[in-house]
Order: sequence, then structure tokens, then C-alpha cells
Amino acid sequence: MTRLDWLSQPARALHGNVRVPGDKSVSHRSMMLSALAEGRSHIRGFLEGEDTRATAAVLQKLGVRIETPSEGERIVDGVGLHGLRGTAQALDCGNAGTGMRLLAGLLAGQAFDSTLVGDESLSKRPMRRVTEPLAAMGARIDTQDGLPPLRVHGGQPLKGIRYTLPVASAQVKSALLLAGLYAQGETEVIEPHPTRDYTERMLAAFGWPIEFEPGRARLSGGHRLRATDVEVPADFSSAAFFLVAGSIVPGAELRLPAVGLNPRRTGLLQALRLMGADIAVENQRESGGEPVGDLIVRHAPLHGVELPEALVPDMIDEFPALFIAAAVAQGRTVVRGAAELRVKESDRIATMAAGMKAIGARIEETPDGAIIEGGALRGGEVDSHGDHRIAMSFAVAGLVAQEPIRIADCANVATSFPGFMELANGCGFDLHAA
Ligand code: S3P
Repeated sequence: MTRLDWLSQPARALHGNVRVPGDKSVSHRSMMLSALAEGRSHIRGFLEGEDTRATAAVLQKLGVRIETPSEGERIVDGVGLHGLRGTAQALDCGNAGTGMRLLAGLLAGQAFDSTLVGDESLSKRPMRRVTEPLAAMGARIDTQDGLPPLRVHGGQPLKGIRYTLPVASAQVKSALLLAGLYAQGETEVIEPHPTRDYTERMLAAFGWPIEFEPGRARLSGGHRLRATDVEVPADFSSAAFFLVAGSIVPGAELRLPAVGLNPRRTGLLQALRLMGADIAVENQRESGGEPVGDLIVRHAPLHGVELPEALVPDMIDEFPALFIAAAVAQGRTVVRGAAELRVKESDRIATMAAGMKAIGARIEETPDGAIIEGGALRGGEVDSHGDHRIAMSFAVAGLVAQEPIRIADCANVATSFPGFMELANGCGFDLHAA
């Protein structure tokens, strides 16, 4: 991949409508379930990001026909639960932990062998969290000392298990539920804290009998998925950068239409409101079985908070953005119980702390979080370490720093948010390739 650096500079007040792209989690799942369903599914609002395109490409390699009539639209001719065809080619998940972990569960139940590979960052991410419980179901998956590539052996009879997740993870839960489609008997997953329930909701929409409530999901093997149409909401995690930007830039007012507001995703909304943010939700409605609404954010002075630990799983992808809000808030923000941040696309505690110190913020790393003293940002040079959310968070920081912020290694923003720069500049950012 060619290396891309950005320069972000102080902006004029931010104004306008910001239509962020489709939800990454929902897009991955819509592709997988459509592929395994019987009949033709129509997906609208599909995220045209590298992560979700990689999942679609894997399924195409496994024999699924997928058409792209227009941007964000996919027509998938499902092959049925047992219709995938094996391939000797490696299946490349790119940068996507969600793609690899969910596919591991799905492929564990196939008659053929497969190999899942990923990019440099994904190749360092822990996979035992999925391979161990899948092994308890009867799957055989080889790792490289717990890391990708994953060699998934086919033809293994699976049996349902009852599994309590050691850490809250929707990816692990979803991998087990997908393997559970192929298992004999009942698969039940219990979570220490409820996580996003898109897999459960979507399985139900595709006609699979499933019982679920916050913190628990249960299904049995031996049913069928029936094709259906999927409406993907705008990604709250992409909206998050604009919620922080709108909060910290004096005079800002932004409207973000039709954003997915699944309560397992909107922890940042609560966190920012605790910090004094002015964010309104209008036109709340349901779309494709998911709550959506328009978010209106206006500038407001923020103050530091002791972040309630219970919010952590509901905002697990939003910490880089929250750290920037905390860096310019008045007073101290304390984050605890967020050790999972260390195994995301980068070690997000370490990468944020290094970058924030480089631009004059005061942050102290702790094993499971950080203590941030709000103040002014000087500007300077930071390295995103190829982590999309870190690159976008420092682009937001550049709006209020005294000097420009130069951000290294930003190409991976395309994994989750293609067109971020154009959208950002359209509402008043001053963000350019450097
Ligand atoms: C996701 C779950 C979360 C999140 C990731 C997407 C999903 O990961 O960080 O971006 O779509 O299930 P974990 O399951 O590792 O917490």
C-alpha cells in the first residue's frame, strides 16, 4: 500500500450536513448471511470500505455471486448453508478483525479446508479468543502461536456449547453463533457485558430461530436462512469524529442524518454529554430493524469526567476520538477498564498517548486506560501506525491545535471511512495530503 500522510490545520467554524457511510459491522454481517441464505438478497447502504469489500471478495472466492448495481448497493445470490465451494487460494481479510473472526466461525462448519490471512496489523491480532471456543465445539483451526494466518480444517462435525465470554466481544460471540448454524444441538453465548447484537438481529431477519436478550444469545443448528433485503444504517463510529469535531470547534453546528443508534454502539454519545456536549437526536425511527436518527451537534465547552466503566463496551471503537475531546476539555478525564484497546488495529492506548504527547497534550497511560489533563494543543507530528481511527482522531485534533498536525500513515482510513477527507473538508476542515 502506498503511504499517505495528512496535514490537518485549524478550521473555520464547521457547518453543514455530513452523511457518513454505512455501518461496518452491519455490512460484514449482511454479506455473510446473504451468502449463506437461499435466494437473492439486496443490500443497500453497504460500506464501500476495504474491510467490508474484503469480506465480499472472500465470499466470491467461495463461489458466491455478488453484483454491485451502484455504489453502496449489492445483490447477493445466496448459495444456501451448504453451498459454498472450497478454494486452495488464501482468503484475504485485509485489515479486518471482524471479517477474520466471523469467517473463522462460518468456515469451521464447512466440508472444505480454508486459509484466512490478513495484513500486517491483522496478522498481529489475537485469534485464540475465537479458535479456543470453536475448538470446544469440535472445530480444528491452526494458528501461528495464536495469530493469523488461520488454517481452518473442514469436515469437522460441530456440536453446540454453552460459553461464557471471558471478555465482552461481539466478534467472538458472532463467530460462535455462525459456527452454531452448523452445529448439532444448542449454542449459547453469555457475555460479561452486552455487546452489539447485529448478528442476532440479522439472523432473525433471515428467518433463523434465535433467542436473544442483552448479554445472552441462543440458537440451534439445522435450520435455513432465507434471503432478505438489508438496509445498512450510517456508522455511528464514523459519525463519532464529527460529534467530537462539532463539540470542540467554536461556532460549529453539524447535522449527521440517519445514523445507526443501536444502544450497544452509542456510549460516546453518553460520554460526550457527561462532558457537557450539546448533541440532539431528531427524527428517531426504525430502519431495517435498527434504531436510527439524525444527530445535531453544536459547539459546547467540555469538561473532564471519570468515565463510567459500564460505558466502555458500548464505545469500544470511539476511544481515540474521546481522547481528543478529553485533551481539550477543562480538567481531568480518567478512563479505566478499557484494556481491549491494546489489541485493536493498533495498541490504541499507546498509539494515542504517543501522538497526544507529541502535540502537547498531557496524558498518562495506565494498563487499562489513561488519565488525560485537558488543555491547549500545540500541534506537531504524530504517527497513526496505520490505524484508521487514530488517523481520523488526530485530523479532528488539528482543528483546534495552535499549529498544524502532520499525521503519518493514513491510507487505512479507507478500510472504514472512504471519502473521509472530502466529507470533512466539505463541512469546514482543512485537511490535505502532505
Ligand atoms: C465488532 C466488534 C468490536 C469492535 C469492532 C467491530 C463487530 O470488536 O471493536 O470494530 O463488528 O463485531 P470486539 O468484538 O473485539 O470487541
